[in-house]
Amino acid sequence: MHSAMVTAGPRAHHIAELMTLFTGIAAVVYLIVIGVLVWALLRRRARTRFDDEAGRQAADRKAQRVIAAATALTVIILITLGLADFFVQRSLFTPPKDPLRVLVTGHQYWWEIEYDDPEPSQRLRTANELHIPTGRPVELVLTSRDVIHSFWLPSITGKKDLIPGHTNTEVLVAQAPGLYTGQCAEFCGLQHAKMRLVLHADAPADFEHWRQQQLQPGREPATDEERRGRSVFTSASCVLCHSVQGTDASATVGPDLTHLASRGMIAAGTLPNTPGNLAAWITAPHRLKPGVQMPATALPPDDLGALTRYLASLQ
Ligand code: CUA
Repeated sequence: MHSAMVTAGPRAHHIAELMTLFTGIAAVVYLIVIGVLVWALLRRRARTRFDDEAGRQAADRKAQRVIAAATALTVIILITLGLADFFVQRSLFTPPKDPLRVLVTGHQYWWEIEYDDPEPSQRLRTANELHIPTGRPVELVLTSRDVIHSFWLPSITGKKDLIPGHTNTEVLVAQAPGLYTGQCAEFCGLQHAKMRLVLHADAPADFEHWRQQQLQPGREPATDEERRGRSVFTSASCVLCHSVQGTDASATVGPDLTHLASRGMIAAGTLPNTPGNLAAWITAPHRLKPGVQMPATALPPDDLGALTRYLASLQ
């Protein structure tokens, strides 16, 4: 499960430190205030009466000193928190050197991911599972196709909104290889909770291997069933929304399926990517994710079996 307190990158680490500082100081202040309140209530019961003017004046002076000290302490605490916040913000907004640029577009309810490159043949598209090399900063350019979403990988970095007609940037730096999970963090509709995200932080050589593999067109069918599956795919309504590079399917409404089988989950982290789940998802996506944009597709059982075999072959 994801946690903002278990960090795996410098940005999330700075944010976690800031959170610890704010929580720690707030907890100490709370305990002092409650302590003073209890002390004042007890003392009120045993209040001494001032019989003379000198005693009352001495008590007034003491009260003034306490109020002045508390005000000064409050100002010091607020300035300390303000400075800590300022320096953390500044470190987060420093533009990285030589970043890998990735365009992330939010959709109800999935993430479109496109690796940018000046050379068109080096651009690649995928969905919901982001791969990045460890050690190199990654600049995400975030936007949305429909409503406001929010990109959040708590172990790696803070939240950043994806806004239609506007781009935001966010930087990812992963220190160690690993698999980190994230979540859309802005309510965006019925399936907001099932708009999940996976980050694979790969060693640089592994990332390059993954990238080369993803740049390949969709795998050619190897069996008759897979061939039949591909013709079902290209003749059914799938092609109205999805693309598989190397076939006629080139729509960009839904996730790119060129290397669907290389992803661990389907439906934005909703189901493990197995042929059975694929078949259930194609037949009745609304049963698994009510409100999803993908329409149900009724297919004869043999066609459905061939189609899922074909999709499962798209490594
Ligand atoms: Cu997308 Cu919440």
